[in-house]
Formats: sequence, C-alpha cells, structure tokens
Amino acid sequence: MPDQEIIAERHELRSEEIDRDDLVSTFKERAETTGLGRRSLIKRTLGVALGLVGLSPLLLLRDSGPLPKKYFDTTNWSKGTRLLLDPAGTPIKASDLEVGAVAQILPELPTGTERTLENTGKDAVLLIRLRPEDFNLDPQRLSWTYQGIIAFSKICTHMGCAVALYEQQTHHLLCPCHQSTFDVTRAAKVIFGPAARPLPQLAITVDADGYLVAQQPFTVPIGPSFWERNSSNG
Ligand code: FES
Repeated sequence: MPDQEIIAERHELRSEEIDRDDLVSTFKERAETTGLGRRSLIKRTLGVALGLVGLSPLLLLRDSGPLPKKYFDTTNWSKGTRLLLDPAGTPIKASDLEVGAVAQILPELPTGTERTLENTGKDAVLLIRLRPEDFNLDPQRLSWTYQGIIAFSKICTHMGCAVALYEQQTHHLLCPCHQSTFDVTRAAKVIFGPAARPLPQLAITVDADGYLVAQQPFTVPIGPSFWERNSSNG
C-alpha cells in the first residue's frame, strides 16, 4: 500500500439550476397530459397505498408481540392424523422407508380442509429412519418413535428456515440459513449454531392398517422461539 494520503475532490451534488427547472417543467407537462391531477381514482389509490406503507411498521411491530406463539402453537397434527408423503400425498408405512432415508411429510387433512401455503409451512415434518440402537433417547421420547423412525418439525427453531440437510453418517440435521445443527439420535438436540432449542418431535405410531400416524399434536410450539425467551426470561 502506498504510504501517501490522496484527496479526491467531490463535485457539487446539487444539479445545475437549468436541469432542475427542466425537470419541474417536464413533470408538470406530463401530469397535465395524463390528467393525473384530475383523476380522483388514481389519487385515492395513491392515498390507500401510502396508508398501507404507514401501516406496515405497525403490523411488523404487532408481529413481534405475543401473537406468534399462538400462531405456531396450532398445526394440523392431532391424534391419529396420517402421515402423507410430500408431494405424492400418499400415506406411508414403516416398510416404505429404508434405514438412512429421509422423507418430507404433511398431515392428512380432514375432508373439506384446504391445504394452504401457510399451513403447509407450519405442518411440514421430516421423517428419518435410523437403526433403533442408534437412538440415545429417554423412554418417553423413544416411545414417540416407531421401529427406528423418528419425526421432527421441519421449521428451524432459530428463525424459521426449513431444515433441509441430513447427514446420514453423523445423524445430523443442518439448517442452511445459519448452520444450526441438530442431533437426530438425541431428539434433535442443538449441537451447533444459534438455535436455542431442539426441533419439536412429533410422536408417531401406526394405525390398524399399518400406516404411520401421529400419536398426538406437537407438545411444544413449532418454529422460532425468540418471543418465548423475551416473555419468560425477560
Ligand atoms: S434459521 Fe436455522 S439456523 Fe437460523
């Protein structure tokens, strides 16, 4: 690096007077031609648009309040809900999944319930099959698995990205956004990264026809938990 100070003079930022006048007269001329000033519909639309711009910070602030907890508290998983392969939409049996395999799952919705983008995001579950002896779980969490198959919410508990990468050799799930890493053998315990809690585990079993179903809804809210830390820990 040269050991020498160099000063670059900046030109005047204000435009020339002639250019400014030119711009104003062009604008007036165009407004006159299009009749913008006379069109009340356009004016009203502009008013509404500006109003919405003003409203958006309020909506964002409201979103950082207690509402998200309620929002993430409810999914379409309940006792007996069948696990459907996404995107095929077909029910799945334990024998359909080999050891080491991962499947993305959505809940079977009651007839007449529409699958929206919003509930698809909240309901998404990852199903992973390990050898049963690979688990290092307490008896309750082990009873939530079925023949080495374990299910977790796909929504990262840090900021809500989709946890998408499974490393078969280490049994680690990785969130691509900020590299939070979850250990599947220990109920998705966080072993690296900014996530503050494990991925919620969905308790699964099979129904009378041998299809995988949920034992119950999620027992904890899915997704990011920053509002919980704010309210419970100050
Ligand atoms: S959203 Fe997953 S680590 Fe940040």
